[in-house]
Amino acid sequence: MSEQRESGRPAGMDFYVLTLFPDMIRQALEVSILGRASRKGLIRVQTVNIRDFSEDRHMRVDDYPYGGGAGMVMEAEPVCRAIESVEQRSQKRRRVIYLTPQGRVLNQTIVEELAKEEELVLLCGHYEGIDERVLEEKVTDYISIGDYVLTGGELGALVLIDAVSRFVPGVLSNEESAQFESLQDNLLEYPHYTRPEVWRGKAVPEVLLSGDHRKIEAWRHEKSLERTGERRPDLLEKSFRTVGCWYGGERARSPAEELTRWVSRYGSLMDYDRRKLQKQCRVMEKQELLLLAVDLEAEWPKEGNPFRNLRGRETPLALLTLRGSRDSREKLGRFLTEQGFRLLLSRDLTEQQKAGGMDLLALEIRKKIL
Ligand SMILES: C[S@@+](CC[C@H](N)C(=O)[O-])C[C@H]1O[C@@H](n2cnc3c(N)ncnc32)[C@H](O)[C@@H]1O
Repeated sequence: MSEQRESGRPAGMDFYVLTLFPDMIRQALEVSILGRASRKGLIRVQTVNIRDFSEDRHMRVDDYPYGGGAGMVMEAEPVCRAIESVEQRSQKRRRVIYLTPQGRVLNQTIVEELAKEEELVLLCGHYEGIDERVLEEKVTDYISIGDYVLTGGELGALVLIDAVSRFVPGVLSNEESAQFESLQDNLLEYPHYTRPEVWRGKAVPEVLLSGDHRKIEAWRHEKSLERTGERRPDLLEKSFRTVGCWYGGERARSPAEELTRWVSRYGSLMDYDRRKLQKQCRVMEKQELLLLAVDLEAEWPKEGNPFRNLRGRETPLALLTLRGSRDSREKLGRFLTEQGFRLLLSRDLTEQQKAGGMDLLALEIRKKIL
């Protein structure tokens, strides 16, 4: 039996695809990982044929454009009724996404954000597109899958379903899943190798055979940076070296570590309980990201603020506090801003945990930083 959400709904995700070509969607979702996920009921994709809502006896859904010009336009009424047929299933507010070359270009952050929804409605256009008036009435998001023009929205909808489904718990098996992959922290992934050890005279990089996990991780990070610089320098500019930092013992350490893991695969850690670190002058750069967890009721060193020697150069900062008042959190936020940090957000951790887990917080930080 599938897991139940707290709301009583089955776990997983529902997609409603509004299309003139339902077979195109159904067939693509029968095979491979998504086919398995559908059979397990982890993703439920229902197609709605827009043509079923035509008012025309020949079931036409398109007409000539006002103002002339080439091509046909999909009429507002059948599209609207198709959307309403989904709305009637429950009162819930759903995001209605129109796949269009005029939308925000899909990326991993948008995918992750959409994966937090329980249901998505995907509207596929054809011909020259859809009458603007129904889009204005019903569509909440405009999404493109890239800067080129397709003949219809179905391939776009499939791309979106595929990318979003990978975040639905259980869709990927343990071997397939990874918390981080290309793009999640604006880095392309390192190269992969499998057996044989030597293929046509080309050997696998030695470090991968060393069994030394620290070295392997360092090599992968280096390759990731190198590859992103070569192939996607635009992404490299948007990537941040994440530093998780805490003050106030275990209570502060564990959220700092957890958040760091969610934000970046290659984050490093700083323990500001260590006197040595407090005494050292450290300047953080603009391309670094500081995730700072502080127990506000932990005793401060006799010299004063433990971060007095820490400076930023417009370095983005997410400040998480435990215990302590809102006033003391704001005071610390102001202090760090004066030290050169750019405060992205400041939260009380207990409140944050009530509102959502570290994954949600990490997503919020990634969106703010861009
Ligand atoms: C030929 S296109 C229409 C393009 C429209 N005349 C324009 O210039 O914006 C037909 C349909 O394909 C889909 N489509 C085309 N390119 C797309 C893209 N890059 N991303 C997502 N959907 C796309 C849209 O649903 C669109 O309504």
